[in-house]
Amino acid sequence: MIRVMKSIPYGQKGALIFAPMEGVTDEPYRLAMSRLYPEWDYYSTDFYRVPTVGNISVKTLREHFGESVFKKNEIRKKTTYQILTTARAQTEDVVRAINELDVDHLDLNLGCPSKKVNAHRGGAYLLSDLDELRRIIRIIRQNFDRTFTVKIRIGYRDDSNFVDRLKLFEDEGVEAITLHARTRDQLYQGIADWSYIKEAVKNVSIPVIGNGDVWNVHDVVRMFEECGCHAIMIGRGALKTPWLATLYKEFSKNLDFISDEYLLSIRTEHLQLYFHELEKEYRKVELSDGHILKRFKSFSRYLFDDYQDGEKVRGNFLRSENLSQFKYFLDTL
Ligand SMILES: Cc1cc2nc3c(=O)[nH]c(=O)nc-3n(C[C@H](O)[C@H](O)[C@H](O)COP(=O)(O)O)c2cc1C
Repeated sequence: MIRVMKSIPYGQKGALIFAPMEGVTDEPYRLAMSRLYPEWDYYSTDFYRVPTVGNISVKTLREHFGESVFKKNEIRKKTTYQILTTARAQTEDVVRAINELDVDHLDLNLGCPSKKVNAHRGGAYLLSDLDELRRIIRIIRQNFDRTFTVKIRIGYRDDSNFVDRLKLFEDEGVEAITLHARTRDQLYQGIADWSYIKEAVKNVSIPVIGNGDVWNVHDVVRMFEECGCHAIMIGRGALKTPWLATLYKEFSKNLDFISDEYLLSIRTEHLQLYFHELEKEYRKVELSDGHILKRFKSFSRYLFDDYQDGEKVRGNFLRSENLSQFKYFLDTL
């Protein structure tokens, strides 16, 4: 059996983590963000789906993390490798292969609400089957000798076995739990119920990372205060304000200094930088203008919400016929 080397997952208390997001947090995106906003303490790959059949390709496994990330030690150390698996998939082989790579931190996705993923008994489905869950956790724990964490929701249909599940993770050697405070059935409806994060902090002695509906610096401060969590993971709020960690480091002790006017004025500047850095990275991997435009449009979902006539502004970007037009709208914001 592999001997586990203990470390503090997600560093010291108070870390901010850029959430894993499929279709967003690939290698070029993470490289651009870590250069532009080094204030984010951690990043994660989106999930690598462990295959049920076929050969395991080490090349594919490496590419999911990113060849350039392997070479940049500072970024490598800040990057979590996330996997999604099922009882039938080749978990042991994949985890052994990842263990051979220079990866410090592996995370298991137990929150994915996709119907297809859940029908194959993966993602959040596993929250409803403690035996299957325990078996998978054990396989991973026994085959990965560095930091191993899980990312969960409150439960599958409802919150049954919420505390039992937390204890299961702790007993089986999981080193931290990220909790998106919604059930699987809630998908993204309503507002995340942070009281479950507080409850989790009370019930386990391993670090709990709070997640769900953190949109601005005030929310970050409030989640730390209300829940006492070790760190906070931010998804859609990071898509809306990719410089949120920078703002937090600057203003968390002076919340009164943040005004809506100030935030809007720096938003325009940051948006130029954001798209510029992303384009640079996408060019390096030879993404075509059309593909870059498609990406940019998909990132536009929340970015313009705070502008007057935000819907109209977003509409302009979404209707851009080519990359030059998209950039023209950026220049004239
Ligand atoms: C576009 C998108 C893709 C996502 N992909 C993943 C993923 O690959 N792995 C994962 O664990 N969670 C994924 N999530 C969930 C987020 O990591 C996060 O848990 C969720 O959005 C709740 O946090 P938020 O309220 O800060 O957005 C995704 C979310 C979004 C919006």
